[in-house]
Amino acid sequence: MAHPDSTLITHIGELVTNDADDGAFAALPDAALVIADGRVAWTGPASRAPAADSLVDAGGRAVLPGFVDSHAHLVFAGERSAEFAARMAGHPYQAGGILTTVAATRAATDDALRANLARLAGEMARQGTTTVECKSGYGLTVADEARGLALAGEVTPEVTYLGAHVVPPEFAGDPAGYVDLVCGPMLAACAPHARWIDVFCETGAFGAEAAAAILAAGREAGLGARIHANQLGPGPGVRVAAEAGAASADHCTYLSDADVDALTSARVVATLLPGAEFGTRHPYPDARRLLDAGATVALATDCNPGSSYTSSMPFCIALAVRDMGMTTQEAIWAATAGGAAALRRDDVGHLGVGARADLILLDAPSHVYLAYRPGVPQIAAVWQAGRLVAGTESRSCS
Ligand code: NIG
Ligand code: FE
Repeated sequence: MAHPDSTLITHIGELVTNDADDGAFAALPDAALVIADGRVAWTGPASRAPAADSLVDAGGRAVLPGFVDSHAHLVFAGERSAEFAARMAGHPYQAGGILTTVAATRAATDDALRANLARLAGEMARQGTTTVECKSGYGLTVADEARGLALAGEVTPEVTYLGAHVVPPEFAGDPAGYVDLVCGPMLAACAPHARWIDVFCETGAFGAEAAAAILAAGREAGLGARIHANQLGPGPGVRVAAEAGAASADHCTYLSDADVDALTSARVVATLLPGAEFGTRHPYPDARRLLDAGATVALATDCNPGSSYTSSMPFCIALAVRDMGMTTQEAIWAATAGGAAALRRDDVGHLGVGARADLILLDAPSHVYLAYRPGVPQIAAVWQAGRLVAGTESRSCS
């Protein structure tokens, strides 16, 4: 029987569902999918598809879950292309560059920040991202952090308080005083606008003790924990994440064997951000080592104006397959279901019946093309909760 207001997408060459019992990548050939009330109502062989109110003919192309980009810094003003050019000429990445963006962000109007956020969110949607996490972290005063989170909340429910990004210049002589602010009045002003708390645990940012205290204060205020860990060198971040019960440890570029064990046994998702290694010339994280140890791996963009100014999940997938030891299936899973796990969401990242109807129609017959044809626009159409938000259902070329 046809669902009211339902859409049948049929003649799907490959339907990536990620709905296998073991939670791994799963796909169906020659498939169809029905959307009703913004959710996936049916999936199966095209030959057995039920009737629906409207019909989309995928013409043999692939359909995937929308990407879940679980790590992005989109509330900022200004840009740092000169820093990027200098790094490509051999200069190292320095966490202090963040303060350039802090100064520009503090000076920006709400409308300027809102316009930049909308521009980046639009870029993401056109590249297949249907869920995005967004951090504060370029305000670093009570008012500027709260404002950043309120603006982020206009584009996504996955909002993360990152008052602990770096110590701002006015606290350079009193970093402990800044940690008190982050855990006290700033947290009180920010918690109502956020779901998560994050801390940049790194030399030049926050040490293990401060990071643990900040995550504990966030938990007291009802926020879930996530962390920037082991990005620029070995360090305590992953251990702090495991001890705090964090949903995700992000970056994971420099890991000891004990770190890999800690991620696996504490079931902390390792969110890998290859755009940051691309943009800083650090070595890519070793996804193969994490996967072989049984860790859950997510891929995200880390979109920010300093280390990783890409909004493209397809770019990250291509890097992960080419340079991080992931199979194409593992990379697609990490960019969809992995991101959902990092955000503790079970309604996105897969196309099982009941999932939110967030999906991508590729201009290609299989998911492999996302890595096989890097840099090529292949996202034909994107639906979010069953609504077409980018592209077109009809073929753009033949
Ligand atoms: O995730 N690691 C800390 N924060 C960002 C970089 C921010 C910046 O350079 O502006 C990151 O890479
Ligand atoms: Fe980041």
